[in-house]
Amino acid sequence: MTRPRIFVTRRIPEKGLEMVQSLAPDYEIEVWQDPLPPAYEVLLQKIRGVTGLYCLLTDKIDANLMDAGGPQVKVISQMAVGFDNIDIPAATARGIPVGNTPGVLTDTTADFAWALLMSAARRIVEGDKFTRAGKWQTWGPIDFLGPDISGATLGIIGFGRIGQGVAKRAQGFDMRVLYYDTQRYPEAEQKYGAQSVDLNTLLHESDFVTLHTVLSKETYHLMDDARLKLMKRSGILINTARGPIVDPAALYRALANGTIAYAALDVTEPEPIKPDDPLLTLDNIIIAPHIASASFQTRNKMATMAAANLIAGLKGERLPNCVNPQVYK
Ligand code: GLV
Repeated sequence: MTRPRIFVTRRIPEKGLEMVQSLAPDYEIEVWQDPLPPAYEVLLQKIRGVTGLYCLLTDKIDANLMDAGGPQVKVISQMAVGFDNIDIPAATARGIPVGNTPGVLTDTTADFAWALLMSAARRIVEGDKFTRAGKWQTWGPIDFLGPDISGATLGIIGFGRIGQGVAKRAQGFDMRVLYYDTQRYPEAEQKYGAQSVDLNTLLHESDFVTLHTVLSKETYHLMDDARLKLMKRSGILINTARGPIVDPAALYRALANGTIAYAALDVTEPEPIKPDDPLLTLDNIIIAPHIASASFQTRNKMATMAAANLIAGLKGERLPNCVNPQVYK
């Protein structure tokens, strides 16, 4: 008799892998070993006949792929909090629960947004390149100046868990915190001294603008030419959410023309950024390779949480963290 199959689309942290491997020998488990994700065409082959799919944000999981999988697919478990790479309505229509990993990466991602904010404001990456290039000749009274962080105004777009984590950290810097979201968070407003404002006010008044929304039709290219122009000329933009929330061509224009002072991105459009992307020619931008949640502890937690979702789905139990609970109605 053939055993039910599980496909894991990349090597994952040990603790999560052990949980998945514990399902053997009842399940046949395949873990994609290549450091790069399987191409879509390969994924189409690999998903055929699987019962459980353990995937990453680098995999495009659409209706076509689900149909290629077949009617026995019981669960799609993603090791990430974001799931814009998965066609959720298509999964729901097919009765497939989709799991994600919220909560465990909140602090780690908020820390990283702060790391980018501070690196951009205080020009740490530029300074490092300068030193390595052998250009450091003296202490310069007017060299590498940047804006103060303490006492500045921080604008947070998207005030969910991670946005609030960023606000929490801003308290230590005596910042004025503004936020824009489609809903109000009165408790967090109180706790972090944050003020809800409309988007234009936030862009106009903030020294730092940091993005923490999901990527959706509404937020696609939210930061376009017009909105970047509303920012201060001294403004710094931070994106640890999803690349396409910022229009990259508009960002290039804004940074090259001095419409805003600096940007620090952990996410780009596309990902990875192409080596000839004009943004890479600028000095006033920092670009990290989508590593905001990359701490040892957090990646282990994400991996085990996704494994727990996978295992629950295989057993026909409700996923501990399900993004489409409608499948259970
Ligand atoms: C990372 O970007 C995630 O969504 O977990």
